[in-house]
Amino acid sequence: MAIDKRLQDAINRQINRELWSAYLYLSMASYFDFKELGGFAAWMKEQAEEETAHAERLYDYLIDCGVRATMQDLETPPAEWGSPLEVFKETLKHEKKVTALIDNLMDIARDLDDKKTVAMLEWFVKEQEEEEESVEKVIKKIKNAGDDITRLDNELGERK
Ligand code: FEO
Repeated sequence: MAIDKRLQDAINRQINRELWSAYLYLSMASYFDFKELGGFAAWMKEQAEEETAHAERLYDYLIDCGVRATMQDLETPPAEWGSPLEVFKETLKHEKKVTALIDNLMDIARDLDDKKTVAMLEWFVKEQEEEEESVEKVIKKIKNAGDDITRLDNELGERK
């Protein structure tokens, strides 16, 4: 199965963005671990693993298409935030950017009438919806928790 070079390059860039997302979430996990918020940190580590899995899914797709996935530079992610709420607000902002990137990939695939890639990307469209929703939920919970963040920390630590 062949793939258009424009789409191949765009998917390679997306692999980089997914891996950068993992890098960002690990940086956030480290912020939380250092503050002894182990549940928040575990949530972020789980998120980082999901992002790596997204990158690998795209990697496998390129291999299926008979081309290589190529790795590119990962820039340094931010490391400091003012509060847990600020971290999750940035997470939501970041996920919205990723959603826009997936939409852009979808536009290219549709432009090229590449039905197989369109079908592959549909999984990502749905995944992005779920990710934005789950981050929005945490933002709500943080706002509701007020100063008592310990219970929420325990709850987030149970994320599977
Ligand atoms: Fe893989 Fe959270 O986007």
